[in-house]
Amino acid sequence: MKLSVPMVAFLLVSLLTVNAWSAQGKKSTMQKQAFGKTDDGQQMDLYTLTNAKGMEVAITNFGGTIVSIKVPDKNGNIADVLLGYDDVSGYQGGKAYFGATIGRYGNRIAKGKFTLDGKTYTLPQNDGVNTLHGGTKGFSQRVWTAKDVSSPAGQALQLTYLSKDGEEGFPGNLSVKVVFTLANTNELKIDYSATTDKDTVLNLTNHSYFNLSGKGEGDILGTELTLHASKFTPVDATLIPTGELRAVKGTPFDFTKSTAIGARINQDDEQLKLAGGYDHNWVLDAGKTVALHLAAQAYDPTSGRELEVLTTEPGIQFYTGNFLDGSIHGKGDKVYNKHAAFCLETQHFPDSPNHPKFPTTELKPGQRYHTMTVFKFLTK
Ligand code: BGC
Repeated sequence: MKLSVPMVAFLLVSLLTVNAWSAQGKKSTMQKQAFGKTDDGQQMDLYTLTNAKGMEVAITNFGGTIVSIKVPDKNGNIADVLLGYDDVSGYQGGKAYFGATIGRYGNRIAKGKFTLDGKTYTLPQNDGVNTLHGGTKGFSQRVWTAKDVSSPAGQALQLTYLSKDGEEGFPGNLSVKVVFTLANTNELKIDYSATTDKDTVLNLTNHSYFNLSGKGEGDILGTELTLHASKFTPVDATLIPTGELRAVKGTPFDFTKSTAIGARINQDDEQLKLAGGYDHNWVLDAGKTVALHLAAQAYDPTSGRELEVLTTEPGIQFYTGNFLDGSIHGKGDKVYNKHAAFCLETQHFPDSPNHPKFPTTELKPGQRYHTMTVFKFLTK
């Protein structure tokens, strides 16, 4: 048979595509299954994305939540490195925000108030006197619309949500899109975008709790952490930044060189005591960027699993699960104790709407909010 030029081109493209989708002989896939019903009777789904290396990421449209991330250790044994629940009932009303998409404003806004264009907005105070993670019913408690947008770049799930003008006190109809892409390089990319029809403030993040030993076993105090940040934002007694950007040098907040999370966590340090461990925003040296920059690396010497966090955001909240107190029974009835996991929440700084000197979190009509974060898994 004689092959025409278009036929050869078609065959070549097909071959390349198949190769990208099935490196190592396995095929990347996306599967959908039932994940339980919300209190008001809505059926939620769980989307499981698998790459050609067998890495698996499961995401539910309830709260735009990453439910599990299954990755190999240094011996090739695959385990789930996220804390969470077995079905949607655990996530409903949950105060830990396991794996959730957080909005409109990740982290705290002081006393539930901010002023924009001369107008003061009042938000629900759901964390003492402050607003935390978007209020009483933030994005982590909303039902998102899911769509499979997979491409040769990887299996990809798009979640969209329209947050109405005035929702949880925030101005503007805000149209939000979050795309999760699992590449064959064991990278989970989260791409956030949004537009508004009124001036507003916005700070989106993901609240995954990582325990690299897998299945929420033990604690994370032996995990070795690097943060590419020479400053952090110290807080007051309600965990609101004082406004200072303080050098980490010579303090227990210096993770510029890989250090075990537990090495200094119990030191007699005012900031550690205020938060019961680490629960602070680090000022990333790269600042806000267009392209991804490396923000953090976490390495568990026992399993050999390593997580790299890359982002375009100027800050990262490093939280050591200080408020986990054994009262939560998670996946497989596992009890989650203090320091059972850590979070690395890429973000703008907490309470930015009340700190004109912090990088702005304002979004105006005609502008497009766009940030990216990648969780990349390796073994050493
Ligand atoms: C906050 C913690 C909070 C946790 C769970 C973190 O982002 O910084 O203070 O307890 O989220 O709500």
